[in-house]
Amino acid sequence: MKRILITGGAGFIGANFVHYLIEHSDAEITVLDALTYAGNKESLRGIPAARLHLVVGDITDAPLVGQLVAAADAVVHFAAESHNDNSLFDPRPFLDTNVVGTYTLLEAVRRHDTRFHHISTDEVYGDLALDDPARFTESTPYNPSSPYSSTKAASDLLVRAWVRSFGVRATISNCSNNYGPYQHVEKFIPRQITNILHGVRPKLYGAGANVRDWIHVEDHSSAVWEILRRGTVGRTYLVGADGEKSNREVLGLILGLMGQDPGAFDTVADRAGHDLRYGIDATVLREELGWSPAHRDLSAGLARTIDWYRRNPWWWEGSKAGTEDRYLQQAAAQGAEGHGTGKIGDGA
Ligand code: NAD
Ligand code: DAU
Repeated sequence: MKRILITGGAGFIGANFVHYLIEHSDAEITVLDALTYAGNKESLRGIPAARLHLVVGDITDAPLVGQLVAAADAVVHFAAESHNDNSLFDPRPFLDTNVVGTYTLLEAVRRHDTRFHHISTDEVYGDLALDDPARFTESTPYNPSSPYSSTKAASDLLVRAWVRSFGVRATISNCSNNYGPYQHVEKFIPRQITNILHGVRPKLYGAGANVRDWIHVEDHSSAVWEILRRGTVGRTYLVGADGEKSNREVLGLILGLMGQDPGAFDTVADRAGHDLRYGIDATVLREELGWSPAHRDLSAGLARTIDWYRRNPWWWEGSKAGTEDRYLQQAAAQGAEGHGTGKIGDGA
């Protein structure tokens, strides 16, 4: 598996995975990335040209995808529209990239019989109650809530169908919330860190009771690398590091680490249809592949992440104002239109 095609390699997790492979393998990497608002080629800065080739293009471009897949031994598919809030206001790009883009890649790997790993999310399973001791497993039924998570669920089902019907050699991983360097400032943790660095109060949706299961992005990378090399074709693996925390708790850690008063934040209107809790049971990955996370202390990981954003304003400053403008526009649209929170089958 020498030549690896990585879609979305200029995004948060894709770029971290590229850095991981540069350090832990001798792979020659091609990144295919459309450099949308979420992609930044500066996230790949410093990687020797002999190891990395960046192709700026769209995963829905079938001739381009076919040409790149033909030259690869394996494909790792990260490219996606990834932000729930954006999906509530403009779902179309999520369908194009997450569904049609994944279909386009599947057709190419089918033609060329190329090993394929599909990166997905725990959000395909919907949410758990705050007081439910259960966690998601590989057999939890799909029940996505947002346009984002429903398009990711659709993409997973396409992969499963292409494995079953056409013998495509694919694996899927569904991971929980990642944090670490190179994450876009629209996302919860970098948004709050960069707000504080700008002297702006952090913004907490609703009461902040929603729980996310945090994993350091480097641990996600090590899991994907294990699955790509040693995973069983046709299988789904859940990736998580036992990192459940409420948003309020995470914000409390960030405020403390940045020397802020514990009450120095604003609560703002809640996200429509906001999933309550995600929790991952990664037993299969741990037992079958012997994987375990290296980063177990969220506070220490957050301290390093804060330090990274403090030292690298050149990387994020350019997108901060536009991101906050978009949040203002979305808040205005939500106020004008309103959004439901019910789910078919919930009796809501
Ligand atoms: P991101 O938004 O930071 O990066 C997405 C990348 O995909 C960007 O570089 C963007 O330019 C590129 N892209 C978007 N549309 C494209 C297109 N049509 N053609 C080519 N490139 C395109 O996302 P991320 O947070 O790094 O997430 C990467 C993957 O991991 C996604 O599939 C996401 O669903 C999944 N995931 C994310 C998390 C998380 O916590 N962020 C957790 C689990 C799974
Ligand atoms: O679970 C995996 C998913 O995690 C990935 O599939 C998605 O691509 C990724 O974006 C992430 O989704 P979330 O919606 O959980 O992440 P986000 O960073 O947007 O929000 C995390 C939590 O913080 C969520 O409960 C909403 C809340 N939040 C978010 C923002 C941006 C706030 O309270 N305030 C904010 O300003």
